[in-house]
Amino acid sequence: MEKPDLSGAYALNGPDDCRRLYADWAGSYDADFAATMAYRLPCEVAATYARERTAAMAEGDILDVGAGTGLLAAALRGLGIGATIDAVDLSTAMLAQAGRKGLYRALIEADVTRPLPIATRYAGIVSSGTFTHGHVGPEALDRLLGVARPGALMVLSVNRAIWDAKGFDAAFAALSGRITDLAMDPVAIYGADARTADPAHAEDTALIVRFRVA
Ligand SMILES: C[S@@+](CC[C@H](N)C(=O)[O-])C[C@H]1O[C@@H](n2cnc3c(N)ncnc32)[C@H](O)[C@@H]1O
Repeated sequence: MEKPDLSGAYALNGPDDCRRLYADWAGSYDADFAATMAYRLPCEVAATYARERTAAMAEGDILDVGAGTGLLAAALRGLGIGATIDAVDLSTAMLAQAGRKGLYRALIEADVTRPLPIATRYAGIVSSGTFTHGHVGPEALDRLLGVARPGALMVLSVNRAIWDAKGFDAAFAALSGRITDLAMDPVAIYGADARTADPAHAEDTALIVRFRVA
């Protein structure tokens, strides 16, 4: 089989495709993808979360959505965030890699577009790299609101190219009354090294979307 890469990830179509690709990619994802592409989204999401969280939510639990190998939890810890973090992801293989890092309380194998088997109500919900081509669209927002406590802070990256295609404007408009303080900032997904590693995707951008649960 071909070596898994970003083009393969963007071409995914549904949960079974996703599980297959990440089963092959999990062991090399950090070294072959994140390092060579100077992948920035986990740090961008973590920085926004650290800046926007309030003192009241400092110790509340955090859910990392599509946690993969755990890069976002590592970035949150790197910024001094000590709260308990749970991981939810479709891929057993990616969660196994995340588990090795010892950063999460729970590793929850679930599809975030379906009803979630989660009783915790989180003070923070974060996600990097999961709202993208062939992965997760705005249909997951309602599921995530269902596991957030009132006042929770949500910080999600959304690949800029799927924002219009998947109807995020309409999806957020439909959540009016259930969320407050919606704001977003554009960021580069990759650093300068990506121009050599994968020129086709080197200039890709995302929106770091933040809001509070009413
Ligand atoms: C590009 S990786 C990002 C991983 C990590 N957050 C990061 O920034 O490195 C996308 C992750 O989303 C997960 N994923 C895709 N679709 C999902 C779904 N419907 N429910 C839960 N996780 C999903 C994949 O298994 C994969 O681990």
